[in-house]
Amino acid sequence: MRSNHHPMSTHKEVKRITTHILQEMKNRGEKIAMLTAYDYSMAAIVDEAGMDIILVGDSASNVMAGHETTLPITLEQMIYHASSVVRAAKRALVVVDLPFGSYQGNSKEALNSAIRIMKEAGAHCVKMEGGVEIAESVSRILTAGIPVMGHLGLTPQSIYKFGTYTVRAKQEAEAQKLREDALKLQELGCFGIVLEKIPAALAKEVSESLSIPTIGIGAGRHCDGQVLVIHDMLGINKEFKPRFLRQYANLNEVMNGAIKNYVSDVKSKSFPNEKEQY
Ligand code: KIV
Repeated sequence: MRSNHHPMSTHKEVKRITTHILQEMKNRGEKIAMLTAYDYSMAAIVDEAGMDIILVGDSASNVMAGHETTLPITLEQMIYHASSVVRAAKRALVVVDLPFGSYQGNSKEALNSAIRIMKEAGAHCVKMEGGVEIAESVSRILTAGIPVMGHLGLTPQSIYKFGTYTVRAKQEAEAQKLREDALKLQELGCFGIVLEKIPAALAKEVSESLSIPTIGIGAGRHCDGQVLVIHDMLGINKEFKPRFLRQYANLNEVMNGAIKNYVSDVKSKSFPNEKEQY
């Protein structure tokens, strides 16, 4: 058989993570790692580090654009972020949030939005917030062959309905609705569900009752995977320190120190020196 690879080549073939691989990971009890990214350079670092899923989250509205909520970000802006991430991701599955207003209440518009994300950004899947209320839109997108990830619990696009970003589904009625929504999303054919900021015991129960993977954020250790916002876990945001967040670096301090040194070197005329010129 003819091989396309040079025998001395050090180039390793990268196997793309698929929704099927994620399902196999759940089946064998291997946890799934997911992290957000919104641009090419960050996504390249995230992908290289071995991330399973890169989420182009609508949290870009907060951390990239400085908005207070995720509501203002547009479909065009999500496509711009997503296309940059897709160009960098060699191994990770790229999931892209459908932004607020691009899918609620109109399944035809939802399908058009999802198609634009797949076609114009080259994304692999979309994510949508909500349960039974968006069933028709989820269904229509799935029918077009586009994999959908659900998102239940704290759904930031509904912040003005909730009023706060506190833990959801602590009361039995809301917990029961979440159980039903999760089952519905699974029945419709979603390949996974993000569970955001709900009690760990409820997340455990839902994760065990579903055959598809759950990915938690502030939902405890029994979800099938975990997701964080990259700016939060790298410590780029100084103020955001919720209990669920583990901060793996303090890049705010590192970057601030480096930038201050640069300013000082320019002012003192020590940069550039003779070796740093032509
Ligand atoms: O937009 C986002 O970053 C998200 C995660 C918090 C799950 O939806």
